[in-house]
Amino acid sequence: ATQPKIIIAIDGHSSCGKSTVAKQIAKELGYIYIDSGAMYRAVTLFALRNKLAVDGEVNEQGLIDRLDEIKIEFRFNPENRRNETYLNGENVEEEIRQLPVSQHVSPVATIREVREAMVELQQEMGKNKGIVMDGRDIGTVVFPSAELKIFMTARPEVRAQRRYDELTAKGQEVSFDEILANVIERDRIDSSREVSPLKQADDALTLDNSDITREEQLDWLLQKVQQLTTA
Ligand code: DC
Repeated sequence: ATQPKIIIAIDGHSSCGKSTVAKQIAKELGYIYIDSGAMYRAVTLFALRNKLAVDGEVNEQGLIDRLDEIKIEFRFNPENRRNETYLNGENVEEEIRQLPVSQHVSPVATIREVREAMVELQQEMGKNKGIVMDGRDIGTVVFPSAELKIFMTARPEVRAQRRYDELTAKGQEVSFDEILANVIERDRIDSSREVSPLKQADDALTLDNSDITREEQLDWLLQKVQQLTTA
């Protein structure tokens, strides 16, 4: 018999490996993986390109007025077998990971109208279940009745080191201190914002991966899924 499909919501701090584990589990289960942060990043890229985000400042009303010009989708790339982010028909998967977007995404993600539009899209994507979505408000706002909710975290220095390794491996010149400062600042904004702050759902399981391997965390997660789908 086929196992029932569930919704897996993975929330937590930035750069603690949510997307890595979410992709792994989706692959294991044959589920769709959706990176909700990529959607906020794509909106931020639109804002940067249209001078609605400049030097850390975001023109909120200007962006709200143009929200209906923003079309975000994910398309499967058979070459790398990944879902890639598209903004108005253009592949922006690489560009949304770069520092200018990282530096402006938190204020963009605090805008209520932006969040409402993203949440609506996300709920649509999950209507058939069999989905793993990672973000900040997936277990609390997007899918409050998700069958499995995980809250991930890791120490800031550990997260900054991982991000640093990732970027330098791609040949980007970045400073560790700048990245650490960015990680800490994003935690602060994400947890203290008025709209959908990063907050652990009451029924979410905590996963701190500062001192465990990827294999260990995947095993742990698969076990949780098994318990739920073979009851
Ligand atoms: O996961 P990430 O670093 O790609 O997320 C980018 C930003 O978007 C981060 O500042 C938090 C925000 N975000 C959010 O507010 N809600 C989500 N569901 C996902 C991301």
